[in-house]
Formats: sequence, C-alpha cells, structure tokens
Amino acid sequence: MANCDFIISGARVIDGSGGNSRHVEVAVERERIVDIGDCSHWRADAHIDASGMVLAPGFVDAHTHDDLELLKSPLVTCKLSQGVTSVIAGNCGISLAPLAAVGEMPPPFPLLGETREFQFPTVEPYRNKLKASPASINLALLAGHSSLRLGTMPDRLEQAADAEAIGLMQEALRLALQQGCIGLSTGLDYPPAEAASTDEVVQLAGVLREFDDAVYATHMRDEGDHVIEAVAETLEIGARAQVPTIISHHKCAGTNNYGRSRETLQMIDRARAAGQPVGFDVYPYTASSTSLLPQFVRGAASVLVAESEPHPECNGRMLDRIAADWRCSLDEACERLYPAAAIYFEMDDDDLERIMAHPAAMIGSDGIASMQTPHPRLWGTFPRVLGHYVREKKLFQLETAVHKMSALPARRFALRDRGSITIGNYADLVLFDPDTIIDRATFEQPKQTSTGIVSVWVNGKLSWHEGAATGARNGQFLTH
Ligand code: ZN
Ligand code: CU
Repeated sequence: MANCDFIISGARVIDGSGGNSRHVEVAVERERIVDIGDCSHWRADAHIDASGMVLAPGFVDAHTHDDLELLKSPLVTCKLSQGVTSVIAGNCGISLAPLAAVGEMPPPFPLLGETREFQFPTVEPYRNKLKASPASINLALLAGHSSLRLGTMPDRLEQAADAEAIGLMQEALRLALQQGCIGLSTGLDYPPAEAASTDEVVQLAGVLREFDDAVYATHMRDEGDHVIEAVAETLEIGARAQVPTIISHHKCAGTNNYGRSRETLQMIDRARAAGQPVGFDVYPYTASSTSLLPQFVRGAASVLVAESEPHPECNGRMLDRIAADWRCSLDEACERLYPAAAIYFEMDDDDLERIMAHPAAMIGSDGIASMQTPHPRLWGTFPRVLGHYVREKKLFQLETAVHKMSALPARRFALRDRGSITIGNYADLVLFDPDTIIDRATFEQPKQTSTGIVSVWVNGKLSWHEGAATGARNGQFLTH
C-alpha cells in the first residue's frame, strides 16, 4: 500500500474537460493528484467525506488586476472564497511589473496602485517578492503594454511610438517574458495607449512568437459604438503577429449596441473556423467598472460613482443626480469628481448570456481590489455563474460552466499541469455544494463572500474551509 496525504470520497467529480461528471475518489500526495477512481489501495493520512458535493478543478480567473493584491493581502480572500486557485494578472495594458513609476500616473493606472507601488523595473523583483511572501493562490502575469509605454516614453503617451520606442519596448517585453510573463496585454481604450497604432501593437505582439505559448490579451480599442471595428483590429493584430489572441471582458456596451454580440461572435467564429486561435473572457454582470471618464459615460444607461477622491461624499451616488445637484453637465461632473472610479450600467442581458454561452467563453472577474466600493464581480463572479446562471437560469450545464472556469483558461494561457482533475496535475481543487452555491456580493454591499464553497486546496494544501481562509499560503508564480 502506498501512502498519500488525503482521499476525497463521495463527491460528484467534474474534471474540467466539459465531459460528464463521475462519482470517483481522488487521492492527493504533496502537491499533486496521484489517483482517481477507486483509491482503496492507498493508505491516506486523512479521509474527506464529500457526499452530495461537487469536486472541481480550482477555478482559473482568466482576467484580473490582482498584481498588487497578492502582495498586499496575501490571503486574497475575495478570490479564494470563490474557489479561485489561480489568477491571470496584468490585464488591460496595466501590469504592476515591469514598471518603475514616478510622478502622477494617467488613468487607469491609479486603479491598480499608487505611484510608489509601481517599484518593479523588471519582472524578476516582483516574482522574487511573491516568492518570499507567497499568497494563498497562484498567479500568472501578462506584461502590460501601457506599463511598457509609461516606462519607455512617459512624455509621449499621446503619440504612436516611433521605431526607437518600439525597439525599447520590444526589449523590455522580451525580458519580461524571459523572466516569467506568459504574454502581453493591451488597453487600447485607455489614455496611455489610445494613440498606439495597430502597427505598434503588431510589432510588440510579434515578440511573443519567440516564446512558446505566449498569448496576446486585449482590452480592445472600443467596446461600444465601434466594437465591430475593434474586433476586426484585434483579429488583424493576432493574424499579423501570428499569436493566440484573447479578447478581454467581451461586451457590447451602450444602449445603441444592444444585440451586436451576434455580429462580434460571428466574426470570432469565422476567424476560429479559419484556424486562428482566438478566445475571450467575460464576467457575469451587465454593468462594467473602471475609471470615471466622460468617454465611458456616453452611451451608458446609468452611471454609479463608486468613489471620488475630491468628493467622497458622492461615493455610491448616481452621476446624473450629482450633476443635477451641481447644475452642471455630466462631463463637468466627471471632471470635478476626478480622480474617480465608476460602475457603468451599459449592457444587455441577452448579449451577456449569448457571450457567456459561447464555447470560446472563459470566465474572468475583472474586479479591482483597491476600490473601496468595488464592482461585486470581484467577490461574486464564479459562484454567480454556478448558482444564478447554471442552477437558476439553466443557461448551460454545470460541467460546461466548470470547463469555462478551469480547463479552458488553463489551456488558453498554457498553464502547465493545471485546470483539470487528472492524475499528475497539481491538486488545485474546489469542493462546493451545487444546491446552495450563490454569490452574495451586491452593488450596495460588494465585499461579501459567497455561499456554498466548502473547501479549496491550492497545490495540495487546504487553504479555505467552511467560510474562512486556513492561513495556508501555498500559491506559486506560474510560468510557461
Ligand atoms: Zn479592461
Ligand atoms: Cu480588466
């Protein structure tokens, strides 16, 4: 008889592949899954009875801004409590590393951290810091295009990069990938990168080809009236650079654009049918959240001010009411409230469901932990999909949902030996109650753990159990 650390018995095991669940036992030794099926020939230190529960691969949050959160709050309760065991950080063009920042930072950088917190000229010291003080969950990092721009051409952000600046950014990106980044992200809809040309991005993304499995993830140039052109540009960049491409938090924003996910998904389908590797992530809400900027206010059905530095008394109020009280335009109200963050109600339920149900859709939360009143997606995304969209709305099967949260993102981002319950894989696991799982985070009270997550293991260590973190900090920095 061989020894193992623990055996989980009685659970309905959903392995992440999208295939049907099975009632099997799972044995874990140190940080790996060592057996699946009848595990009676193992001598285990502990037996866990999981009758009535679902055992799934720990969730991979395909889109996060947790770069700093893992250093600041290493238990990462907002994620661990949802069953998330790995996060993809560095999204939307803004990564904490590589960047040593000085002076005031343009939006959306302040969402991620303060200037003094961007203290990593390369990825190596960031990685070392995480290694010296590990978090409860794993993290893989994308290098942000806006971070590269700010580090390389801080005085010329409103211009397209010239050949020299592109060369410098390519060098910095190459180093970031050598030091463990898994790809490049852009935020072409934001001030630090708006002026970047398609060519600039193609030349940078081209560097990814030198590294196996490196990916290009993009917050596209437009998610509203020009979303079709933006998808076309994204597909062009991916095709010209010949790299796997991921559209971040896919949506069709603004009341004008309700229904247009039919067109965007068709474009994506056509590219995929032609052999182009392209996928996307999505969060399960019809409101978005980011810096308060006039360009984002236009088109939204309504806007909630999440927090304003000069006017904290406006936190939690609707922008149009604030403007009415001040007898000024929405644009002027934005200006007076800035620096500020907002929640934009701007999407259609049908679009959201159509996007989520698409076979290429991964689940990503896109939450911003630094906000005092964050969007509820930060704490609620994964249980909301499982409870609201699967159990209550029957949008798709539980097996499909788990696939979108585990094996699919693990494959897209090429996270080795993760994302499925397979012998030899890391024991990143979540045990949940399929009958009760649900998010509790709301727009009014966003910082709330969910119901129904029983246990979470990260690299074989029990890290969340019955409503609380165990204190284990067994997360790793994931590289290709
Ligand atoms: Zn974004
Ligand atoms: Cu984002």
